[in-house]
Amino acid sequence: MTEAVLNVYLNGRFIPQDQACVPITDRGLQFGDSVYEVVPAYGGAPFRLEQHLARLDRSLAAIHMQNPLSHDEWAGILHELTAQLPGQDQQVYIQITRGAPPVRDHAIPAGLKPTVLASTRQLPARDPAVAQQGISAITLDDIRWRRCDIKATALLANVLAHHQAREQGVDEAILVRDGLALEGTASNLFMVSHGLLITPPTGDCILPGITRDLVLELAAEEGIPYAEAAINADDLEQAEEIWLTSSTREIRAVTQLNGKPVGNGQPGPLWRRMDLLLDAYKARLRLLARDAGDQSA
Ligand code: PDD
Repeated sequence: MTEAVLNVYLNGRFIPQDQACVPITDRGLQFGDSVYEVVPAYGGAPFRLEQHLARLDRSLAAIHMQNPLSHDEWAGILHELTAQLPGQDQQVYIQITRGAPPVRDHAIPAGLKPTVLASTRQLPARDPAVAQQGISAITLDDIRWRRCDIKATALLANVLAHHQAREQGVDEAILVRDGLALEGTASNLFMVSHGLLITPPTGDCILPGITRDLVLELAAEEGIPYAEAAINADDLEQAEEIWLTSSTREIRAVTQLNGKPVGNGQPGPLWRRMDLLLDAYKARLRLLARDAGDQSA
């Protein structure tokens, strides 16, 4: 059985994905001159859409662009895309490139029409083995640029670091710059040390993650002590727990670092607690989506 081709949004139109084309001169393709977002939608209800769109606005401003669409227009696009997979958990991909100029030139062309696209697909179910055993990671030198706060599609350094981790037989890489552990290749970093939950502060060396913010909010609500503070890569070795967070992979416990167990080598008690809190948050979103569906039915 062939899978149905979903519609994507491209430059104002919803069209089947296999008919969506962008010019080969697009600056997103040629220069990585483009930014993106990945928004999960639980049961179809977008997860922290306003926060994702605010980050999109910040990424665009940082590359001297403006959001070509209003937040309401984006909400409408997400609604239309996710309605194709009713009730399912999905990940919506949004990308805005600077557009396709007539000539390839590094100078930013004035008045170019941006390429705007969005698509949805199923959010893969969580691997039960990852929840039970956690994942393995190595620390690697961070060779990325100095504007990691921009959610840019130029991700070659992230791709190569992830590949190096996989070649060394582990799941992930934690990137280290000037002795500080910063984040994963596509995730934010948390460490539990002496019962304190610590994550590096935002700045130009990490992406300000939406899941990271939610984890901090949940910690505050639950009275879990936390701090936004630099993490020395050496201190990771003594951590009771290490987590990596992202919109698509949620909260993963790192249970083996550089070939040694983290804590007792199992996902820790604080991870279990936070994972349940996130689960409850997602369940509320699914209910919202279901109720909204019931009302419009
Ligand atoms: N990446 N840091 C980096 C470098 C990331 O690429 C991501 C997310 C995060 C976590 O951010 P958030 O919680 O907002 O997803 C941190 C997405 C999921 C991706 O590239 O697919």
